[in-house]
Amino acid sequence: MGAVAPLDARAERRGWGRWGRPLPGRGTGTRTRWCSSSGGGIWRASENLTVWPGHDTVVINRLQVTVPVTRSGRTRGVGVPGPGSPKEGSRPGTPSSSPLSCRRYVAGGQCKSTVRLEGKVAIITGANTGIGKETARDLARRGARVIVACRDIEKAEAAASEIRAETGNQQVIVKKLDLADTKSIREFAEKFLAEEKELHILINNAGVMLCPYSKTADGFEMHLGVNHLGHFLLTFLLLECLKQSAPARIVNVSSLAHHGGRIRFHDLHGEKSYNRGLAYCHSKLANVLFTRELARRLQGTKVTANALHPGSVHSELVRHSFVMTWLWKIFSFFLKTPQEGAQTSVYCAVAEELDSVTGQYFSDCKPAYVSPWGRDDETAKKLWNVSCELLGIQWD
Ligand SMILES: NC(=O)c1ccc[n+]([C@@H]2O[C@H](COP(=O)([O-])OP(=O)(O)OC[C@H]3O[C@@H](n4cnc5c(N)ncnc54)[C@H](OP(=O)(O)O)[C@@H]3O)[C@@H](O)[C@H]2O)c1
Repeated sequence: MGAVAPLDARAERRGWGRWGRPLPGRGTGTRTRWCSSSGGGIWRASENLTVWPGHDTVVINRLQVTVPVTRSGRTRGVGVPGPGSPKEGSRPGTPSSSPLSCRRYVAGGQCKSTVRLEGKVAIITGANTGIGKETARDLARRGARVIVACRDIEKAEAAASEIRAETGNQQVIVKKLDLADTKSIREFAEKFLAEEKELHILINNAGVMLCPYSKTADGFEMHLGVNHLGHFLLTFLLLECLKQSAPARIVNVSSLAHHGGRIRFHDLHGEKSYNRGLAYCHSKLANVLFTRELARRLQGTKVTANALHPGSVHSELVRHSFVMTWLWKIFSFFLKTPQEGAQTSVYCAVAEELDSVTGQYFSDCKPAYVSPWGRDDETAKKLWNVSCELLGIQWD
């Protein structure tokens, strides 16, 4: 996706992803081949590389990673290590099965940056619970002025006062924002721009999943309306402020679920057919495409835009599904905690090495594979224009 990334360059020089580091004397060989995965992508495999037994090395976004290979020679998945994938410092091919290492594996990547954010202003949507709340807590701990933008003011006040008490940062402020209502989004932006002078970090985090068929106040299908169009309008209204405060960052919380999404221009609001799981996937693909087009348009402004997958996180996201709520409870050991799930959001918002990285997609604090539909520039442009039309805005 998009632009020039010092991160990519460094990764390329170093040559290896976190869990793709070779041990001396193990499985050295030369391979040149094409790999594909269930995602449908094709990648150029690297040449003259040291590979793990049972693994292969592929290049994604110019980042070399080692991936497990099935007996038939197909890669099992990219960007996310399979159950038997070697961890840094562990022996290849001998997956550790202790509960502690399993938990560590589930926890995923951590943001290691110690950057302080005094004097910086951040907005986080949906920060009264889950990933958003933990993201707000982290940024508050770093000294930022954090705007907790939520539709439920009572719940947001409770979260904000908990964060203020724990971090000692009194600059955690609640503001009303309902992303299912463009009137509320405009009011939020108007108040924010009247009260604040700068905005350095915008984290478009709020989201809904598996909603029964419903529409926003403006008649948009709920997933598309809240997850994509609401954040699209919010970003539009705050963009001048971000540009004037540059360097600034926009972080869009998408999902691995974008792989299952398609932009169904002929039935954007699911009026002809609706599946609530797919509706979520479509909206998360829209997040990826929005990020891609936004980053392209923001070249040279020192405002970056990146998207991410936080991992599978034990949060309230599944609240609309009785079955998923129980599954999430039963398998909570295998899910990230919200604090672990917030790591990639925080990484995208603060990491020094991402200063000029834009238009990328991350997972576990490292670049991740974007579905072919998420890399389609034509669809990204078309979605941009259709979104502007639906919202009645002109964004050139
Ligand atoms: N959890 C996962 O496994 C997972 C995986 C991939 C991606 N994600 C993404 O991560 C993001 C955060 O999700 P989460 O797991 O932290 O879920 P969560 O605990 O349900 O939090 C979602 C947040 O969004 C807010 N929200 C929902 N509708 C809103 C609206 N109309 N206006 C304003 N705020 C609204 C919620 O507010 P209320 O509390 O008032 O409803 C809540 O604060 C989402 O974008 C989600 O798609 C999560």
